Amino acid sequence: MQASPATTVTAPAPASSPVPSQSHKTTKRSAKDYIFGKLIGDGCYSTVFLAKDIHTGKEYAIKVCEKHHIIRKKKREYIKREKDALNMLFNVPHGFVKLYCTFQDEERLYFVLSYAKNGELLSYINKVGSFELNVAKHYAAELLWALEKMHAQRIIHRDLKPENILLDENMHLCIADFGTAKILNSKEISSSPKNNENDNSQNERSRKISFVGTPQYVSPELLHDCVDTRASDLWALGCIIYQMISGLPPFRAATEFLIFQKILKMDYEFPEGFPADAKDLVEKLLVLDHSKRIGADDKGETYHSIRNHPFFEGVDWDKLWEQTPPKIS
Ligand code: ADE
Repeated sequence: MQASPATTVTAPAPASSPVPSQSHKTTKRSAKDYIFGKLIGDGCYSTVFLAKDIHTGKEYAIKVCEKHHIIRKKKREYIKREKDALNMLFNVPHGFVKLYCTFQDEERLYFVLSYAKNGELLSYINKVGSFELNVAKHYAAELLWALEKMHAQRIIHRDLKPENILLDENMHLCIADFGTAKILNSKEISSSPKNNENDNSQNERSRKISFVGTPQYVSPELLHDCVDTRASDLWALGCIIYQMISGLPPFRAATEFLIFQKILKMDYEFPEGFPADAKDLVEKLLVLDHSKRIGADDKGETYHSIRNHPFFEGVDWDKLWEQTPPKIS
């Protein structure tokens, strides 16, 4: 039996075991079951605190959302999406923060998440300037693996960026922040993936995606036509590979508007010395037409065409999560 994903009444699984005991399963949790510590994250509709379970001593990251803020800013849908997506991903063994339970009081909603002890990938990129090629390759491979699992469940993240990619105590990556995720619905599942994803009439044409922080990783189709496609996350993968190797994201400008313009015009350059295989892969990911991006036509759960790209040569896909990741220095 596996641990169950979050419900409003399920308590965190015990630290030592993935199987919650019966008493844990039926215990309703509240903020009183945790000692709240330092602030570890801040978004436009939530705040994340390090917290300790008073019963087990285990550390969690608890995302706290003020109800009045959610209602005032019409963010109820964000909360639901995040909970649904994290519940769907609960049994994927690697690559994602885990949602152990949710509860609420009069003023707030609480999400009890696994604590990614080593924080944001962005801090590491900024600290060392840029990653050595083997480091960039390893984290790109972990990210691609996680995207495969997520996309197999028809979840598109839509806001992948180095701030939303966290590192756990073993320096393995976990994707966080599913507030703007899209879970493709059953209608979209019924016909071929390509048509579904590309048929904008099925989607919310008028939807506006609001960005928290920078929009530097947003794909042209999200900016332009609000098309929902897994290939938007592949675009972000291209931006992140570029950034891990060069130190900066490909599309940079002083204002959001200018960044959008650069994205839509594909106005970016590679710095001198950018490795040829990495450049070739990034060029195949940063393609304006999402249906022509590398991986967009791959069938099944694996992005074979991306895995087989020379940039990933030497990656042992079956041992990715058992290995100690190469040291970031
Ligand atoms: N910041 C936001 N979510 C987090 C998490 N799950 N672990 C660590 N830091 C975070």
